[in-house]
Amino acid sequence: MALVSPKNKFLIWGGNGWVAGHLKMILEKQGKDVVTTTVRMEDREAVLKTLDELKPTHVLNAAGCTGRPNVDWCEDNKEATIRSNVIGSLNLTDCCYLKGIHCTVFATGCIYEYDEKHEIGGEGFREEEEANFAGSFYSATKSKVEEVELSCANERVWIMKTYPNVLILRLRMPVSDDLHARNFVTKISQYDRVVDIPNSNTILTDLLPASIILAENSELGVYNFTNPGAISHNEVLSLFKKYVRPDFEWKNFTIEEQSKVIKAGRSNCMLDTSKLVNKLKEYGYTIPEIHDAYEQCFIRMAQGRAT
Ligand SMILES: NC(=O)c1ccc[n+]([C@@H]2O[C@H](COP(=O)([O-])OP(=O)(O)OC[C@H]3O[C@@H](n4cnc5c(N)ncnc54)[C@H](OP(=O)(O)O)[C@@H]3O)[C@@H](O)[C@H]2O)c1
Repeated sequence: MALVSPKNKFLIWGGNGWVAGHLKMILEKQGKDVVTTTVRMEDREAVLKTLDELKPTHVLNAAGCTGRPNVDWCEDNKEATIRSNVIGSLNLTDCCYLKGIHCTVFATGCIYEYDEKHEIGGEGFREEEEANFAGSFYSATKSKVEEVELSCANERVWIMKTYPNVLILRLRMPVSDDLHARNFVTKISQYDRVVDIPNSNTILTDLLPASIILAENSELGVYNFTNPGAISHNEVLSLFKKYVRPDFEWKNFTIEEQSKVIKAGRSNCMLDTSKLVNKLKEYGYTIPEIHDAYEQCFIRMAQGRAT
């Protein structure tokens, strides 16, 4: 464990993004030195120039092509998605490596789906397990930038993990304490119908401070970055109704019916968080189980009158 230096300087990439905004707010509240950039990650010259000019000790990469209004956009814009999520992300990582800068990548855990070994209610996916969800182009770019199969050597090589300066945090269905359009709860509360499947979720108020602890201690490797446990859509919406919007009603449909109204498939899975929980214990930081975390989140939301 490295000692936290008072001279740390954080540079957030993708400065206008949703997660980036939350990170900036938290770092500022903590009195940390933080700047942001919107320089394109794939522009190698501009990236190197930005790193030279701003001289960060830590880059927080919250940039990524996520699609608007949702990941279905990536299905029709594959080159642009690769340019950001593969070429850009790797370029930024490599430039940070050349400059000796620690780089935290806000990645996604939507690279798995329940299977025979990982059934609903069973064991979660551990960090080292191979991605098994390729239902969306967005998820495919995100998983392939982490790992690649080298058939000639008959060995699996993890591209990102090869770099000795990288921390990869896999978020899933992130939730904020307000009803921002990017919030998973906002999304499902606005759909005509929702599926009802348990999933791992990331409550940003619980997890983003943990990302700063891990970054400033120069932790490395891959972490499933969600609250422990899994929660179903109906459980989320029942808590939303209880704490935030008492008159809220919703309807369910099956995953087969859902597939008729979306272009890209959606990942459903539970991630194993024991690696993250154990690591954060070293720093005296605990993350609430997902049902407790949602209750606390909706209480904060109701107090902020985000209805
Ligand atoms: N929100 C989710 O559901 C979710 C779930 C899991 C993981 N994540 C990951 O977390 C990260 C942040 O997500 P978010 O929700 O904050 O997304 P967001 O609001 O869409 O922000 C992403 C930001 O990245 C910028 N960007 C895209 N391509 C870029 C490039 N090549 N170079 C520089 N900047 C670029 C975008 O700018 P432009 O709009 O100008 O392109 C945007 O400001 C993403 O990597 C995402 O994949 C998000």
